[in-house]
Parts: sequence; structure tokens; C-alpha cells
Amino acid sequence: MADILRALDEKRAAARLGGGKRRIEAQHARGKLTARERVELLLDPGSFEEWDMFVEHRSSEFGMAEQKVPGDGVVTGYGMVNDRLVFVFSQDFTVFGGSLSEAHAEKICKIMDQAMQVGAPVIGLNDSGGARIQDGVASLAGYAEVFERNVLASGVIPQVSLIMGPCAGGAVYSPAMTDFIFMVKDSSYMFVTGPDVVKTVTHETVTHEELGGAVTHTTRSGVADLAFDNDVEALIELRRFIDFLPGSNRAGARVRPFWDPRDRREPSLDTLVPANPNKPYDMKELILKVVDDGDFFELQPNFAGNIIIGFARIEGATIGIVANQPMVLAGCLDIDSARKAARFVRFCDCFNVPIVTFVDVPGFLPGTAQEYGAIIKHGAKLLFAFAEATVPKVTLITRKAYGGAYDVMSSKHLRGDVNFAWPSAEIAVMGPQGAVEIIFRADLGDKAKIAARAEEYREKFANPFVAAGRGFIDDVIEPAATRPRLARALHMLRGKELQNPWKKHDNIPL
Ligand code: HXC
Repeated sequence: MADILRALDEKRAAARLGGGKRRIEAQHARGKLTARERVELLLDPGSFEEWDMFVEHRSSEFGMAEQKVPGDGVVTGYGMVNDRLVFVFSQDFTVFGGSLSEAHAEKICKIMDQAMQVGAPVIGLNDSGGARIQDGVASLAGYAEVFERNVLASGVIPQVSLIMGPCAGGAVYSPAMTDFIFMVKDSSYMFVTGPDVVKTVTHETVTHEELGGAVTHTTRSGVADLAFDNDVEALIELRRFIDFLPGSNRAGARVRPFWDPRDRREPSLDTLVPANPNKPYDMKELILKVVDDGDFFELQPNFAGNIIIGFARIEGATIGIVANQPMVLAGCLDIDSARKAARFVRFCDCFNVPIVTFVDVPGFLPGTAQEYGAIIKHGAKLLFAFAEATVPKVTLITRKAYGGAYDVMSSKHLRGDVNFAWPSAEIAVMGPQGAVEIIFRADLGDKAKIAARAEEYREKFANPFVAAGRGFIDDVIEPAATRPRLARALHMLRGKELQNPWKKHDNIPL
């Protein structure tokens, strides 16, 4: 028996060595951790249960029969993050550049299938040269098997991708179909065609980093949700992030012990909105002051800053926050902000996470760039997402809620459950100046008359009471009391049940 155990130990040691010392050193020299070091950091100490450590590729071309590495370039299994079950795969760049063979794909598929059955998130740590060239079409088949599972798992279990190395060609489409993508600065990139092909086809000269690095995807394309400075920071933040997520669509929003009092008033909020309606203020201050312990996990902070999205907790329960940001483009809706928020709202709805919406929106951004870019279709995504969502929806209008954007931002009419307004709210078809310039066009030459009309309009319409008088707003609340009022509303809604009519699936404007 001792011999057998020794043989097992040796086999395990060989698997743990991956592509060998030289390649591990090269990985470290690039400031990257190995696949196993990453898994160790991600999971609670000692909780990793590894599967398929002895799986090998089946390729024999190009001398591959003599190059078998146990595990075949991906470490897979399950473990705990803050005591919660997650499944993980971590591609090992030291083994054939982390490239995906048929066997490598089968290992990923195995944990995805199991994760779907037991209802736990799948975390992918991506570091791969793409399809294993020596595996030929079998590796493409492997990718497609993973893609299919990404789609079937969508809305069933959360899927998170952390890009920690190359991710190019068709390989990008697996992370693209997961719910969240995080990247590591300087060492990761994602693109469909790399700089060399770009140079040949479009004659553009561009670096890997410029074309598909973490900064590009978190500021320009919006493909990735967050960028981190290094592997360690990325994995620690990923642990914090996972703590907000439910295990599956069968689980309710995650609740954890909390100490921040539900009835905590915040007097400083009474003066958050400036007297001048054209002066911006920071909506993040409101978010940080009302959520438990000021703990807000913001996503895509550097993309479409006119809308804020992220997770927080109230009374220990995860909520998704969507908020207009008056500091950027006056908080108006445009293509990027609508796309950003719509996908987030849909995630929350899939996974039973209540949505809290803070509204200060002057309307949609005008201009040819927006119209030619299909703001009609993109804006409709956000409208569609809020309208179809059946999770608890609590909305607070702090200041402007004008026009179609008022309807879009989780209004009562889109089955908002509890809709509050601060006394400073202005809920109207448009702002006073614009409104009087249209309805009193004949008086445009008379400045005093227009000013008087604008004042009259402001008094009549630019307040929350017309909407509250119709029941579109459930209550006009003191800003200082925002946290207690939100907490009570969310508590009341914990048992909410609402179903949309049966359908195969909807047809969201894409
Ligand atoms: C097999 C691969 C590989 C691959 C890298 N390696 N990519 N082996 N299949 N796709 C191996 C290398 O031979 C090398 O082995 C080791 O991994 C490290 O690679 P290097 O080139 O030395 O490293 P580096 O300079 O850091 O460059 C990394 C890289 C480059 C940028 C990923 O290797 C590269 O461009 N690889 C090819 C990428 C690619 O074209 N993939 C197919 C794309 S198509 P040794 O033994 O020397 O350590 C695709 C489509 C997916 O993926 C389809 C889905 C539908």
C-alpha cells in the first residue's frame, strides 16, 4: 500500500508542476501567478477539491504523444469563498500556453454541468493561447461545448470571468457570455483579431494593450466590468464580489449578519441636492450613505459614468443599485449607459436580487451620434429590462425625472413596487425652460413673460406632488429618512411573487 500511496503522491506532484519549473519561473517573471496559486488565493484555505488532475490530451500529431502533462493545462474543481460553494477553472499557461484541447474543454464542461445541478457560481480564471493548434477541430468542438454551456447556464448560475492573460479569437466569446468580466492590467488582453491582423487588414498600428487591454475594455468598449493592478488584487476583490452573489436562480438574495441599524437617519442628505437645479451633486454620496456600512461594489465605474451600477446590502440582503449620476453628462441616458444598466438589471432579475433605482435624469442625450448609433434600440433595452423585471423594485427620485427617461427609470408604470420621491423631485415632461419655450413660442421675444411662465410651470409641474397626487409616487420622503424607508420597503417586498406570461423567451431589442 505504501508503494501505491507513494506512486499517487508522485503523480500528484507531477500534475502540480504543470509545464515545469522553467515555465513557472517565466510566469512569475511576468508578474503572473500560476493557475494553482490563483485558485489557492481565490478559495478559502484548504477548501479546494480538485477534479481531473490526471486527465491528459488525446492528440498524437506533431510529437504530442510524447508530451503529456497531467491535468492538460487547466485546474478544475470546487471550493468555498467565504464559506460559499463555487466551482472554478483556472487555465495553466505553463502547459501549452493554457491552450484548450478537447480534454481541457471536457474538464471545464464537467464542472459547469455540476455547478448548474447544485446551483453554485462558476468562476473562470482565463490565461490561454486559445484553441490547441495540435488538437485541430477537436479543440474548436471543445470551445463550442463550453459556449453552449455558457448559454444554458446563463440565468441559472452566476458566471464570472477573470482574464489574467491572453484571450483572443473566438475564445473571447466564452467570457463574453458570462455575467461579469474582470481583467488584470498590463498582463491580460481580449480581442477577436490581434494587432498583426489589424495591421494587415486596416493598416492601423496598435499595441496589444491599446487594442484589448484592461484599460481599453473598462473605459472605451465596456466589455469588462473592472480592471485590477495585479493578480493578487484581482483575486481578493473577486472574493469580495462573490460574497454579493446568490448561488443560483433558485436561491434568494444572499443575506448575511448586519450591524448597521435599519433606522439610521442621515441628516446630511437633506442638503445633498443643491438649490440650483443645474448644479450637479455626487449620487454616490447618497448610495454610500444609505447602504449597509457604506459598502458598495461598483461595476464599470469608468465606463458610461452617467449611470452607476453595482451591488450593496440593506439589512444584510444583497441589492442591485442603478443610479443616474448628475456629475457626468448631467445624468442623462445615452447608448452606453442604457446598455450598461440594462444588462445589470437583467442580471438582478435572473437571480432574485432586488433593484433599488435612484433617479435624477434630465432625459436622453440628443445628437446625431446617438441617433445614428441606434439610441432608439439601446435605450429600449433599459426600458425592456426594467419592465420585464419581476424582482422587488424600489425607486427614489431625488431631483429630475423628465420625459421618457422618467418612465424608463423603474417608474410605477413599469411595475415599480415602491416609488418614493424627495421633496426636491421634479417629475414632468421636460424642464421648465424648455417647456415654456415650446408651449408659449409666440411669447419668445418677451423675456419677462417667458420667465413668468417658467416660474408658473415650475410651481405647477416641477415638483413631486402632481405625480404623488396620481399615486405614481407612493410617498414624498425626507431625504434624511431614506435608509429607513428603503429598508422597510425592501423588507416588505421579501415575499414578493410576480410572474410574466409564459413564453419561450422574450425578444429584447438587441
Ligand atoms: C498550442 C500553444 C498555443 C496554442 C501557445 N502555445 N498558444 N500551443 N496551441 N494555441 C504554446 C507555445 O507553443 C509555447 O510552448 C507556450 O504555449 C507559450 O507560448 P509563447 O508563444 O512562448 O508565449 P508568449 O510569447 O507569451 O505568447 C503567448 C501567445 C502566443 C500570445 C498566446 O503563444 C500565441 O499567439 N499563440 C497562438 C494564439 C492563437 O493563434 N491561438 C489560436 C487562436 S484561434 P512552449 O513549449 O514553447 O512553452 C482560437 C479560436 C478559438 O483560439 C475558437 C473558438 C471558436
